[in-house]
Amino acid sequence: MALKQDLAGRLGKHGQEHLLQFWDDLDEDGRELLAKEIESIDFEQLDRLIAELVRGGGEAPEVAADRVLPIDVVRMPQTDGERAARRRATEAGEEALAAGEVGVVLVAGGSGTRLGFAGPKGTFPIGPVSSASLFQIHAEKLVALGRRHGKQPPLYVMTSPENHETTVEFFEKHDRFGLDHVRFFVQGRMPAVDLETGKILLAGRDRLAMSPDGHGGTLAALAGPGDAGCEPSCLAEMGDRGVRTLFYFQVDNALVEIADPTFIGLHRQAQAEMSFKVVEKMAPDEKVGVVVLVDDRPQVIEYSDLPKALAEKRGDDGQLAYWAGSIAIHAFETAFVERLVGGLKLPFHRAIKKVPFLAPDGRTVQPAEPNAVKFEQFIFDALPASERFVIVETDRAVEFEPLKNAVGPDSPATVHQRMSDLFGGWLEQAGAVVPRRSDGTVPFAIEISPLFALDAHELKSRIEPGLVVERPIYLR
Ligand code: UD1
Repeated sequence: MALKQDLAGRLGKHGQEHLLQFWDDLDEDGRELLAKEIESIDFEQLDRLIAELVRGGGEAPEVAADRVLPIDVVRMPQTDGERAARRRATEAGEEALAAGEVGVVLVAGGSGTRLGFAGPKGTFPIGPVSSASLFQIHAEKLVALGRRHGKQPPLYVMTSPENHETTVEFFEKHDRFGLDHVRFFVQGRMPAVDLETGKILLAGRDRLAMSPDGHGGTLAALAGPGDAGCEPSCLAEMGDRGVRTLFYFQVDNALVEIADPTFIGLHRQAQAEMSFKVVEKMAPDEKVGVVVLVDDRPQVIEYSDLPKALAEKRGDDGQLAYWAGSIAIHAFETAFVERLVGGLKLPFHRAIKKVPFLAPDGRTVQPAEPNAVKFEQFIFDALPASERFVIVETDRAVEFEPLKNAVGPDSPATVHQRMSDLFGGWLEQAGAVVPRRSDGTVPFAIEISPLFALDAHELKSRIEPGLVVERPIYLR
């Protein structure tokens, strides 16, 4: 009884006492579970978020157009001088890799609702011929990098409480895909609240409706205690291993050039704290955040927050003025992450979603319309805090085709085609003959395992010139 009263007293101060409405029906275990979930919540913070993002009507107002300017970007090299500068950056990055100073952070905590796939997104079979999972393709790139540079960058995979176990099991089942060092760390959770009232939703009689706290949660989770609270944090471990620079990417992009030495080199040469890869946006409404200057500070404006006038603005050359679309690939200095964890609080954003909940009569309601607010932090909100940064342009055909949807754009079909086109191009550069449709795409699936060749240059040394590709092919 004392526990119930104690919890009721605490919840009452925040208008959340309804969370105990089924307390008397619960057994000991159920009560313990519920009490633990309630105790994990920072109610002062939640009150502020509800006041601002639920009762206050939503996000901060749109940024005024006169505060926004395009940001300087290291563009794709056009001249011999620029190509030479990139080569020097590549060498600097290769040195960092060979010295074991680079670690890799893969964020895979999202729920992948739009894809409609039951498992963690990283387990999705995306290889156009092999059906290799996203995780396998990413891991093989790391193994190949290790062979090339003599040191395999350690991999840190962020999961969420919902998909942690399945993710770890998947890696174990595949002998960790040959990785030397992979560590999983779990991101935090935030309660989902009712869109109208700000009351926390119950997922069951003994459970709150909790959801991952966004990839901004990566920072705190990297610094948090390891498994069972007895391992050093990932960040401390990185320090012990001599890792200084982190390459960060999202699980959904099969094309990502993991720990790309040129990007690492440009980041290091500029002594940057956080860097971004961007691509030229294809259309004003493409769903990528844009990197811009706001009041002279670098910032990402997420696609959903970009005022239409800015999204559509074009320069004299007809190009989009705010074209630098973030592909969610970053480099971070570990010292910067430590500084952020010690002080800066990333802002929370709200996401209005359909969240099933337990009604007061004990029935589970599957809402037909969005009914709840989830709170998420975004990693790119760390950019304004960085003293030095570099924004680097890359070619989307080579490095960006994310898996987001079940059909249409950014779906398995588009990813398969883009991978086949890319690998077809590598084969041609290596002297092979590859058929092309009139629009330049290849007519069947082509796949090259990163263990066979990590890039077009390496492929040249692996195949006979004059190879004619006539049917689906998987080189491994
Ligand atoms: C995201 C970026 C967008 C960028 C685009 C590029 C955000 C808010 N926006 O959009 O600026 O241009 O990718 O593809 O991220 N994740 C977690 N934990 C979470 C939430 C997400 O680990 O709590 C991971 C997911 O597993 C996924 C990634 O973050 O790997 C992206 O999440 P998603 O919700 O798909 O972002 P987008 O809206 O597509």
